[in-house]
Amino acid sequence: MIQACYLLATILFIFSLHWMNHPLTARKGVFAGVAAMLIAILATWAQPVIVHHLWIIVPLLAGVAVGWPLAMVPLTAVPQRTALSHAFGGLAAGLVGTAKYYLWLGEGPEQLTTFRVAAIIAEIILGFLTFTGSLMAAGKLQEIKWLPQRPVTYEGQNVVNIGTLALAFLIGIWIIFNPSSTLAACLFPVIILIALVFGVMLIIPIGGADMPTVIAILNAYAGLSAVAMGFVLDNKLLITAGALDGSSGLILSIIMCKAMNRSFINVLFGAFGQVKQGAASGEQKEYKTDSTESAAQIMEQADTVVIIPGYGMAVAQAQHKLQELYEQLKQRGVTVKFAIHPVAGRMPGHMNVLLAEANIPYTDLVEMDEINSDMPQCDVALVVGANDVVNPAARHDASSPIYGMPIIAADKAKMVFAIKRSKSPGFAGIDNELYFADKTWMLFGDAKQVIGEIVSHLTPGSGMH
Ligand code: TAP
Repeated sequence: MIQACYLLATILFIFSLHWMNHPLTARKGVFAGVAAMLIAILATWAQPVIVHHLWIIVPLLAGVAVGWPLAMVPLTAVPQRTALSHAFGGLAAGLVGTAKYYLWLGEGPEQLTTFRVAAIIAEIILGFLTFTGSLMAAGKLQEIKWLPQRPVTYEGQNVVNIGTLALAFLIGIWIIFNPSSTLAACLFPVIILIALVFGVMLIIPIGGADMPTVIAILNAYAGLSAVAMGFVLDNKLLITAGALDGSSGLILSIIMCKAMNRSFINVLFGAFGQVKQGAASGEQKEYKTDSTESAAQIMEQADTVVIIPGYGMAVAQAQHKLQELYEQLKQRGVTVKFAIHPVAGRMPGHMNVLLAEANIPYTDLVEMDEINSDMPQCDVALVVGANDVVNPAARHDASSPIYGMPIIAADKAKMVFAIKRSKSPGFAGIDNELYFADKTWMLFGDAKQVIGEIVSHLTPGSGMH
């Protein structure tokens, strides 16, 4: 029965991931995932090896006490929230591996088979490095003051990092072949310590726009440590769920890397997002600003308006005001589309989720590749808190850190309005030449407020179409 439940949970996990592929089925995907997890917990609870029910009830309550408030964070904080989940997952795997090693050590050498110890070593290295790495990543994304947000690099850093990890694996290999010796029991905590330190070392050279990708990579590590834990505990569901977790994290990070035209190696060792010294020392470029009243007049007379949302829309929670603007313009016969960049915001589908929340039909959300060919015919491109994803430097400036990243061609539109609060750069830490272009007009201010003003300036009663 228990194995049948595990199989059912695995099937539901697979369907859950599959249904997440489309907005129409995404909700079903969430329910399938929740049902799978519930079945998994109940089936595990029903195992005869459970010695005391309190050992299940107390962690369940503790999990709910932590998980509930974690689920309530705003959407903009979801990447760091996800990182915290990975940290907990990694820590759990690491602790289980440690407990199992010392338990089996006490029971006698025959328990510590080569296979088991190898799985434990993989589990604790991956688990503990995921723990500190994810905590660091969450802290950086949360912009905790005492943590440097930009990459911290030094000469020979990659050699030191790879050397540290190699040392952990070398000690691990020695333990695999001498698992019950006293020295092995003493060296085991050393591996834990190295993995914990390595997690921090792995994340400090990474920053800026690479952080969300790193979260996905840590997701993959957390999944792999769960697979190893599954082998240690001989639990098939942990193996399959961990494999799904690990592979989906890996696929996600590959998708993100592709959307940013970057390689894995580059993300992990490229120190992306480091503010380029001297980049700002050139001539001071001028922004042109316009009023929300004039923006409203121009937009209501346009044939086509393409709205390009970015992270700033999420920060301002401007999606509901955007929906009003969308409705009002449509009533005036204007064709309005939303251009969705795959890495706009801070997590995959960030813009889709927010716009769906505001009841904007997903049929009017157009993917980057599809909308770009229409941009030259677009009368007005309205950039709402997006920056890197519309930066033309990605197309032609080989020295730019975002060179090669596909962008939404806002600069090809006949006219551009860009909403942001200040002159500060985007996530990648670089200026955006789109904002200085002849055809661009800045509307400085909080996105929600600015769009609210535009809506209020639309000519009353002209929505007759
Ligand atoms: P960003 O480049 O981060 O730019 C967001 C802009 O929004 C900023 O320039 C900011 O300017 C503005 N802003 C912030 N709060 C605002 C508010 N309340 N009202 C109005 N404007 C506001 O965002 P993007 O264009 O969406 O690009 C996403 C970045 O994340 C890219 O670099 C991408 O590579 C990276 N990334 C994303 C993902 C995923 S999966 N989404 C994965 C990996 C990397 P002010 O401060 O002046 O207002």
